[in-house]
Amino acid sequence: MTLWARKKGVPLPAHPRNWKGTAGEWLGDAAAFFRKKGVPEAEANAEFIMAAVLETGRNDVRLGASHPLSEKQGFHFWELVQERGQRVPLGYVLGSQGFMGLDIAVTRDVLVPRPETEELAAAARDLLQAGRPDPTVLEIGTGTGCVAIALAKALPGATVYATELSPAALALALRNAEAHGVSRRIRFLKEDLFKPAARGAGWADLVVSNPPYIPSAEIDRLEPEVRKEPRLALDGGKDGLDAIRAIAADAPRHIRKGGWLVLEIGSEQGAAVRGLLEGAGGAAVEVRRDLQGLDRIAVARF
Ligand SMILES: C[S@@+](CC[C@H](N)C(=O)[O-])C[C@H]1O[C@@H](n2cnc3c(N)ncnc32)[C@H](O)[C@@H]1O
Repeated sequence: MTLWARKKGVPLPAHPRNWKGTAGEWLGDAAAFFRKKGVPEAEANAEFIMAAVLETGRNDVRLGASHPLSEKQGFHFWELVQERGQRVPLGYVLGSQGFMGLDIAVTRDVLVPRPETEELAAAARDLLQAGRPDPTVLEIGTGTGCVAIALAKALPGATVYATELSPAALALALRNAEAHGVSRRIRFLKEDLFKPAARGAGWADLVVSNPPYIPSAEIDRLEPEVRKEPRLALDGGKDGLDAIRAIAADAPRHIRKGGWLVLEIGSEQGAAVRGLLEGAGGAAVEVRRDLQGLDRIAVARF
């Protein structure tokens, strides 16, 4: 965990309660500070940070609200609160993010895993579990490695390939795979999209990807947190569909007959992606919505 103020060599802004108080009072101070700074879900953010500092769960944070914090705990808490107040993503502040029950290490080199991407991983997992016991899977654009790792853990017979352009992301993904005991079953490759292709035609049972899909011009209008994430992870070109278009076009060469392509897509890209997948020869194309009713996952059979 970073010691933000010390790291940057700047004095820590004063704490309104002069470094004293119960966990509940510190939480209230942090939530008020977050509201002033426009941090969404102020209370929840304060609780997540407190849970990390106290090395406990969020529920225990609430139950222990009447306990005073030690000076060290208070100082550490307030440092992290200051960093979050700069609209740094919570995953970067804490250095980790939960994903499908796994603790995934996160740095500023990667996109912070999102809850909606758990739906992508679950969709791929369910299709694979209904098929052969030793499938070959490719994840394109692995970032932290969260999707590849979740699939390797859920499918002990699977061989997983994961491509990524960013060397720093690949190094982190490998570290995450080692931490979860699946590094021997995932081949991380510094390659563009499908490039592990030398394996010949129809080598993959399933290809899964959460590609960059935000239209270039929209990125500067997004929340400050998102703008601190790597552009390579976000920028999908003029209409947001560059990577999806390339993946759809190449899918038939790599996916075996009857295999699957599972993509995370933008909230308004369902119709366009359906057209791309059908145009590439995908059958049974399905666009699934997320809990907010927005287009989120596209599935096609090849
Ligand atoms: C939206 S992020 C997804 C990261 C991770 N899979 C997740 O779901 O949290 C897209 C990832 O694709 C990588 N990427 C972008 N273009 C790529 C390309 N042409 N080939 C391989 N990876 C690429 C980015 O570096 C980034 O890590």
